[in-house]
Amino acid sequence: MTVASLVIRDELPADIGAIENVIERAFAKHPHSQQTEHRIVRELRAAGALVLPKVAVLDRAVVGYATFSPVRLTPAHGGWYGPGPVAVGPEFHGLRIGSALMSKELEALKGKGATGCVVLGEPRFYRRFGFEREPRLALEGVPPEYFLAHVFKGPAPSATVSYHPAFSVAG
Ligand SMILES: CC(C)(COP(=O)(O)OP(=O)(O)OC[C@H]1O[C@@H](n2cnc3c(N)ncnc32)[C@H](O)[C@@H]1OP(=O)(O)O)[C@@H](O)C(=O)NCCC(=O)NCCS
Repeated sequence: MTVASLVIRDELPADIGAIENVIERAFAKHPHSQQTEHRIVRELRAAGALVLPKVAVLDRAVVGYATFSPVRLTPAHGGWYGPGPVAVGPEFHGLRIGSALMSKELEALKGKGATGCVVLGEPRFYRRFGFEREPRLALEGVPPEYFLAHVFKGPAPSATVSYHPAFSVAG
């Protein structure tokens, strides 16, 4: 099933309440979530660190959200990003809204001249977009099979990755 009238567009200030609501509901029953994802996005926005924040809109209602933020590589290499929490309202799961959001986001990130993108997440969801294990890039303290990279301009450097401090927001 697909949602023909789905619109994906840039986040607007008037969307912020609806975005937080969608993120909170999307992660409410997630087994590895501390339900801080909406606050991470809030902190990223306050820090001016949201990159390409986009909403999925259906019948004028925000039903999904995706964004990037810059990640830091050590030793330093520029142009690397990670998706912020990607979220679709639970009542709309399985309708390809998450896929549509990720595809648009990655296209926009490439268009912006990014070098690559890393993600800590479910390989079964992210592999279809071109993410794969990249042993030269590491995120400390996580099982490596859940840390994936999508390299736009290769080869990937050998580096450790750290996310924006907003991701450390307490539960
Ligand atoms: C993950 C999420 C954004 C996917 O959105 P969605 O619109 O339901 O996904 P789609 O309909 O585009 O699914 C595409 C495919 O990914 C799979 N998929 C969806 N969510 C998945 C998950 N959490 N783990 C593994 N696979 C998943 C679907 O089964 C589908 O597979 P298929 O092509 O083999 O049928 C949504 O389920 C969500 O908000 N989940 C809670 C929050 C979350 O886990 N976010 C991601 C981590 S940051």
